[in-house]
Amino acid sequence: MHIDIITVLPELLEGPLNHSILKRAQDKKLAKIVVHNLRDYSTNKHRRVDDYPFGGSAGMVMQVEPIDRIISKLKSERNYDEIIYTSPDGETFNQPMANSLSLCQNLIILCGHYKGIDYRIREHLITKEISIGDYVLTGGELAAAIISDAIIRLIPGAIGDEQSALSDSFQDNLLAPPVYTRPAEYKGWKVPEILLSGHQRKIEEWQHEQSIERTRRLRPDLLDD
Ligand code: ADE
Repeated sequence: MHIDIITVLPELLEGPLNHSILKRAQDKKLAKIVVHNLRDYSTNKHRRVDDYPFGGSAGMVMQVEPIDRIISKLKSERNYDEIIYTSPDGETFNQPMANSLSLCQNLIILCGHYKGIDYRIREHLITKEISIGDYVLTGGELAAAIISDAIIRLIPGAIGDEQSALSDSFQDNLLAPPVYTRPAEYKGWKVPEILLSGHQRKIEEWQHEQSIERTRRLRPDLLDD
């Protein structure tokens, strides 16, 4: 999978994309993430990529030309499955969306900033708009990192134990069951007896019941679906 991320703040993405599973997936050549500085595509001598909004509301708007220039260049190099724009007014990101994006070969993620991008980009170039939740971030970079993490870890081979990606919370609309490790007792706090029993079928039944109970208590909306 190849992901091109377009941003005015490339430094913000250096940390999150270069550690742990995302780093390992890139080292193993399962994924490649290239971060592009949108300012490199400005023709302005101060490398500006924003301007005042027509109609005079508050805040700045990201201009159409630099964004069109970089997206056109990228599109001349490969075919993209989706051109994603991160924005609080996009479709809310969830596990099914991550699953389907993890099957893509080439993605662009354009990080929004300021008051947003010139709407013509959204009308003519963007194919998918994603929000990571109902709150407003300073920019779309952290959203792009979250989306990249959620999809790259699903690529076969990206995490050591593929079974564990499948048993994640949300993968089947249920929260994951509680997990424990040694010691079996600490300060009198005990691990549930059943997990020490060695009886695999009963353990799985218990885990499933726990998943249902936790989902009912913490995220009843997931059961409505
Ligand atoms: N940019 C600002 N807020 C955002 C959000 N909630 N999701 C995605 N991109 C954003």
